[in-house]
Amino acid sequence: MGKRFYIVTFGCQMNVNDSDWLSRALLARDWREASGEDDADLVVLNTCSVREKPEQKVHSALGRLGTLFRDRPEAFAAVGGCVAQQLGPELLRRYPFVRLVFGTDGIAETPNALEQVAREPHLQLQLLDFLKAYPEREDAWDGPAAEHEDSPGPAQCFVNIMQGCDNFCAYCIVPYTRGRQKSRHPEAVLRECRRQIARGVRDITLLGQNVNSYGQDPGGAGMGFAELLHAVAALPGLERLRFTTSHPKDIAPEVVRAFGELPNLCPHLHLPLQSGSDAVLRRMGRKYDTARYLGIVRDLQEARPDIVLGTDIIVGFPGETDEDFEQTLEMMRTVRFESSFSFKYSDRPGVAAVNMKPKVGSDVAGQRLARLQELQNEITSEALKSRVGALETVLFDGPSKVQSPGAVHWRGRDAAGRVVNVPFASSQIPSDLAGKMMPVRIMEAKKHSLIGEKAGEPW
Ligand code: 5AD
Ligand code: SF4
Repeated sequence: MGKRFYIVTFGCQMNVNDSDWLSRALLARDWREASGEDDADLVVLNTCSVREKPEQKVHSALGRLGTLFRDRPEAFAAVGGCVAQQLGPELLRRYPFVRLVFGTDGIAETPNALEQVAREPHLQLQLLDFLKAYPEREDAWDGPAAEHEDSPGPAQCFVNIMQGCDNFCAYCIVPYTRGRQKSRHPEAVLRECRRQIARGVRDITLLGQNVNSYGQDPGGAGMGFAELLHAVAALPGLERLRFTTSHPKDIAPEVVRAFGELPNLCPHLHLPLQSGSDAVLRRMGRKYDTARYLGIVRDLQEARPDIVLGTDIIVGFPGETDEDFEQTLEMMRTVRFESSFSFKYSDRPGVAAVNMKPKVGSDVAGQRLARLQELQNEITSEALKSRVGALETVLFDGPSKVQSPGAVHWRGRDAAGRVVNVPFASSQIPSDLAGKMMPVRIMEAKKHSLIGEKAGEPW
């Protein structure tokens, strides 16, 4: 019987995607998935250090594992991702039950390294070297499928198109933990997309730290991002295509135009603004100002009038004044992002902003964050209300988390990515809708989701 593993994932979609792959690669090697840390022979922590909070979570998880493994000397842990890249050798010293540390460039070698440390009880290994080219991974679809709890529905998947980042925004640790930008060869991207479509995937998200600069390193074999988008969109059977994350300074006019040209490119874009103050954007090293950002928004809306925008905002960047912050709120009101992720600035080791002054106090940053999130909630709620009456196509993930007596609720997403729940009376419960698409009339808006009713047959 194979050994049992359990993977805990922190942080971004790239980590979720890496964990999904690792899980499949281990299943293909005869490992089994444990139901939790308690009955696992191996616990993998895939870590994030982009902000202080997720990094703290890794240390508390390691503390917890130390206690758990005290009576089970055969059990061991592996730590991957950004914290491993940053602190690898220190983690091996401090936590003897950690037997492997691997960075994002080391993940392709991780399944074999895990087998090796499982065989040799006193071995500790590190896979922390940065590579020059995108490390292609084995195709792990042949093993039994593993579903991570954050995995998308059965008809959705993420396809990596690059790793690393060259931008060095003043607050950001990513270029240090994920290394230089490395584009994946377009043929490898297309091969994986075709393979996924053949498995029943209908919705693909192309993933990278800054997808708009895809191909601006030798890995893209001369293909730029707009060309790659057109090539993926043309694959037969692909109903929905999206991409994340974008940097406003790199979004090319051809990519903006693609929203009007490619019917299966979904009307949704996550476009991190970070701040609405030109002075702060300059200090952040973002290389665009608010006028340029608004110009991109205008062009996107021209190309695709129903486009829905989401963003990331940092409050309390060093030197941010009340006035700078008011400008951020003003940009939120102007662009009317339908969703946003917002964070209090936190110092990260080695980034340029560590030396920038004055620091904004945590209380002030906290108040700003609360005001920003309140404004976002108002905008989100108005945007969702305006959908009532609309006819949308919903791609179902699975049954809704919340059910009610006398009905079965299914959960899916419309083309723009909004969550839509559809209740079916017990007299008309459909057979499995997971992975099916269906026309739905929107009847009601909740705080963060919509409720609709069946308006046509599923396919
Ligand atoms: N402090 C706070 N937020 C940060 N982000 C990145 N670095 C920091 C930091 N040091 C945010 C940015 C980025 C998102 C992934 O995390 O908004 O877009
Ligand atoms: Fe970090 Fe800036 Fe690169 Fe995004 S673009 S990963 S914020 S350095």
